Amino acid sequence: KTVFVLNGPNLNLLGLREPAIYGAHTLQDVERLCEQAAMRNQLVLRFHQSNHEGALIDWLHEAGQMKRDGQLAGVVLNAAAYTHTSVALMDAIKGADLPVIELHISNVHAREAFRHHSYIAPVAKAVICGLGVQGYSIAIDAVAQVLLAQSA
Ligand code: DQA
Repeated sequence: KTVFVLNGPNLNLLGLREPAIYGAHTLQDVERLCEQAAMRNQLVLRFHQSNHEGALIDWLHEAGQMKRDGQLAGVVLNAAAYTHTSVALMDAIKGADLPVIELHISNVHAREAFRHHSYIAPVAKAVICGLGVQGYSIAIDAVAQVLLAQSA
């Protein structure tokens, strides 16, 4: 089955962007980490990043179609700043009843108040934040070990 890892705005600049908060790893490093995690769990990885809300929604719709076809293991979503703003992303997840793990590299709850609210959390299966890029690998393990078992 397939695991989608979707990354939102500004995450293409990982490694360059606020390294004190997000660390020195690049998005390419994250993709490699995810590839390894997918492989050890016998999952097929679809890894994407976009700075555009609509592109993220299109991938969620694709994941929804795969779910209906019985091909989806789960979605790991770091919606970045859209986490705190996007009713459209929330609706896309809810509409397709997608098994989503919300992910943040930083501990959003230890940061500014506007990062404490998430439109994704109420429609997510779980939330991982504050574990750095290692969180992606843990999220993929969770898709394989928890979400797949729930859907069986
Ligand atoms: C983030 C946290 C968000 O608040 C922020 O807008 C991001 C990255 C994280 O991974 O820690 O762009 O999602």
